[in-house]
Amino acid sequence: MINTMILLIVIVFLLPCIGTSRATLCPLVFAQKDFNITEYAGLWCEAYRHDANEVDTKCKNGTYTVNSNGTMDVLSEGLNKLTGYYSNQGSAIPKRLSEPAAFLIHDKNPTKTVKYNIIQTNYQQYSLIYSCDYVPIIGIRFEHIWFLSRNKTFPEPILDKFKKVLKHIHVESSGIESTPQDC
Ligand SMILES: *[C@@H]1O[C@H](CO)[C@@H](O)[C@H](O)[C@H]1NC(C)=O
Ligand SMILES: *[C@@H]1O[C@H](CO)[C@@H](O)[C@H](O)[C@H]1NC(C)=O
Ligand SMILES: *[C@@H]1O[C@H](CO)[C@@H](O)[C@H](O)[C@H]1NC(C)=O
Ligand SMILES: *[C@@H]1O[C@H](CO)[C@@H](O)[C@H](O)[C@H]1NC(C)=O
Repeated sequence: MINTMILLIVIVFLLPCIGTSRATLCPLVFAQKDFNITEYAGLWCEAYRHDANEVDTKCKNGTYTVNSNGTMDVLSEGLNKLTGYYSNQGSAIPKRLSEPAAFLIHDKNPTKTVKYNIIQTNYQQYSLIYSCDYVPIIGIRFEHIWFLSRNKTFPEPILDKFKKVLKHIHVESSGIESTPQDC
């Protein structure tokens, strides 16, 4: 009975939000092997995203500052269509020493933790971020994908390159949309 109710609640309230998420486990992904956090620091603009929580936002960017203990402070900024400018301060903590490009970002206000796996970056121009959470009771995975660029113009040839990388790890790119940077 209780299970049925939970399932109903999930179907009614959660399913409409999940976009193209698949009813499968998260794929096994590997963050970039060679990773230099110092070179990654600085400004990254959001060029494309698959992010069901972020439909009414644009002109998003993140400023990453490296701390001496190997973490990064992350200032996220953007514009919400209704409420205007917003910002959020967080910290990026490396998950483990053996995987230096896999982070957990802990945001304050609102408090949340986001997986931040840097699948591929060349530091100067682009970065591909993949994040996945599998929720066993409903058997659904929630995915976030971000294509970041150093300035407001994403290098177009990289769009196809990133989609191929995603295909290779069995991740759909059909839900990916461009984030306007027209501010
Ligand atoms: C990381 O990059 C910085 C800046 O380019 C450089 O000074 C440093 O030597 C690099 N670290 C490693 C371990 O390669
Ligand atoms: C790392 O250093 C930053 C800045 O000094 C500090 O705010 C943070 O709490 C430290 N984090 C850990 C896990 O030690
Ligand atoms: C980051 O985005 C915010 C909100 O769109 C904007 O006000 C800010 O100027 C941007 N930062 C940079 C360095 O472009
Ligand atoms: C963005 O950076 C690229 C180099 O990565 C450069 O070719 C391009 O002119 C820059 N665009 C803007 C608007 O600054």
